[in-house]
Amino acid sequence: MQKDLKNLTDLEAAAELADLSKRLKELEEAYHTYDAPLVSDAEYDALKRKNEAIEAAFPHLVRSDSPSFRVGAPVADGFKKITHKVPMLSLGNIFDVSEIADFVDKIRRFLGMPDTQEIEFVAEPKIDGLSYSALYHDGVFKVGSTRGDGMVGEDITANLHTISDLPKTFRLENTLFAHPIPTWLDVRGEVYMSKSDFMELNAEAIQNGKKVFANPRNAAAGSLRQLDASVTATRKLSLFSYAYGFLEGKKWSSHWEFLTSLKQWGFPVNPDVKLCKTVRDLIDYYNDMMAKRAMLPYDIDGVVYKVNDYVLQERLGYITHSPRWAIAHKFPAEQAITKLNAIRIQVGRTGALTPVADVEPINVGGVIVKHATLHNADEIVRKDIREGDTVIIQRAGDVIPQIVEVLVEKRPNDSQPFVFPATCPVCGSLAVKEGDDAITYCTGGLVCPAQALESLKHFVSKSALDIDGLGTKNIELFFELGWIKYAADLFELSEKYGNELRCRDGWGTKSVDNLIEALNKACSGVALDRFIYALGIREVGEATARLFAKTFGTWDVFFSVVTSENALDTLQHVEGVGPVMAQYVVDFFAEQHNLEQIERLVKKIRLLPYEKADEKQTPFSGKTVVFTGTLMMMTRAEAKAKAIAAGAKVSGSVSIKTDFVVAGEAAGSKLKQAQSLGVDILSEKEFHQLLDVSSNYQYDNN
Ligand code: IVH
Repeated sequence: MQKDLKNLTDLEAAAELADLSKRLKELEEAYHTYDAPLVSDAEYDALKRKNEAIEAAFPHLVRSDSPSFRVGAPVADGFKKITHKVPMLSLGNIFDVSEIADFVDKIRRFLGMPDTQEIEFVAEPKIDGLSYSALYHDGVFKVGSTRGDGMVGEDITANLHTISDLPKTFRLENTLFAHPIPTWLDVRGEVYMSKSDFMELNAEAIQNGKKVFANPRNAAAGSLRQLDASVTATRKLSLFSYAYGFLEGKKWSSHWEFLTSLKQWGFPVNPDVKLCKTVRDLIDYYNDMMAKRAMLPYDIDGVVYKVNDYVLQERLGYITHSPRWAIAHKFPAEQAITKLNAIRIQVGRTGALTPVADVEPINVGGVIVKHATLHNADEIVRKDIREGDTVIIQRAGDVIPQIVEVLVEKRPNDSQPFVFPATCPVCGSLAVKEGDDAITYCTGGLVCPAQALESLKHFVSKSALDIDGLGTKNIELFFELGWIKYAADLFELSEKYGNELRCRDGWGTKSVDNLIEALNKACSGVALDRFIYALGIREVGEATARLFAKTFGTWDVFFSVVTSENALDTLQHVEGVGPVMAQYVVDFFAEQHNLEQIERLVKKIRLLPYEKADEKQTPFSGKTVVFTGTLMMMTRAEAKAKAIAAGAKVSGSVSIKTDFVVAGEAAGSKLKQAQSLGVDILSEKEFHQLLDVSSNYQYDNN
């Protein structure tokens, strides 16, 4: 049968595919939606296989409504989730031309390169849309997804199919020889709506009394993330491709080379990408694009600089959320003038006193702004911001609006400088300025209701313990009643106050039972990363918590590391953890009060070891590595980062627990100690050979 199908003409194949699509849709609807199958499962499967066989023989004829892209019934409650094989990361930002040289310098330092050595960059416009990923198998589009949280996105295969810019199959004429295609390629880029299509869509919406989008980015997002892809099909969306994720069956040596392949295969690559060799080139590029910005048919919110050479990219690696080898250089934000009505002080979970400006509501680039952050006390003094001032306010993308400057000439005569409180406005404890970041902290700790309450809300929040039935309102209620002060109190709620709660207005037996069940569920098993995140350690967000969980595996190992003598050193060796964050973690676990509460918690909650989902074992998995001597091929920092990425723990001293000592030039006492203990010693070259082996073992090494 397969053979016959191959002999079809294009016209016949297209007609067959059209018929099959229609027929299979009817059958699926009858089966899933009406629970009334029209044919046997075997008959349905045979038709589905026939469709697949024709698609395989005629990839260029695959329809946008192909049954292969349908997964059973239409998803009723949201999109199907797709786990990215390689995470979709974001970029670090710079905002000033002077920061370009710092970015390049940092790269040089990390790589141990002299100032004289040139590094090639690809500069690209930063498209203001939303990122997508499209997975191709043997040059045929299979699955599309949004970025989501970077790890898991939404399945938008059907929606992407409706975008004509997206190649459904690679264009192969005359290119196979120069650009053989990979088995698997996850092409990434940005979906956007052009300025003119956006204006047209909004004009039409106004006429029909429908919702108007604030900007092209929102319009693109609203159009792409439609459960019903036929709505997406009515919107004019475009895209550019600029990166890849999962890849198998091909290698490029540079980003430029990769972009060239993309172009050859018919992917839309932005025409303004440019190879740059010096900081001067990058500055010129930024200025050129800034001048060109208004004339472009689509919105850009900056430019992106990427190290061109893939070997260097690989060596540079990643910091928690973003690559070291690339940076976004944002354009100045949109601004507006308004009046600052009042300065309020908010107290957060960590006790930080954050001044917030309440401003006269104003439209800034399509978004109504009512509040702006004032960052800290120094910022208010530096800019001499006062209540009653007329100010220039700006916003950039999703960033909280800021006050750029005060229009002093409009200041009222009776205006007074703002006095930052010396005590916490919530609990009255002393407020002190701490560290280099100029932030004022309330010293009240959990005695301060603001901190205690915010910590509790954080503990039960979605990304932390995700305790159903314990929303903000309930936490506030229990806190006000004095039933809970610390997270561990939650687990004594039912025992101590269950009966009282059952008698409260609005609380029946059922809702109390549900609450108890949710709490019991949490006790029966919490993922390690969620628990670490839930503790609310300053600077430790979800990604960092995951990193700790991934690095240390179990709570016992993590806890013994953070409470050990050389905790600071060990933590700093985790890639993505800097000295400031490491210090916060150490401080947190040095606090007796925190230790007491943690002890109560771990008695109640079963902490699950980190699940190493897709990770493969490498020769370094779980091994302890010590570096000694001078390394010639990469800097010490880089070597440590690589070892950790390959699953190793890096330690500063040799002991019986050490698995490998990597000995560089002029290695001294540590090498001797390793020899006397019989620890495996690797030369720098051997270390690299093992790393190479490791990189073949795993794809997710960030
Ligand atoms: S590269 C590993 N290139 O900007 C990072 N991103 O702020 C891969 N974006 O999430 C991203 N234009 O959605 C890259 N030419 C470009 C881009 C670009 C727009 C978006 C992308 C990314 C965000 C980071």
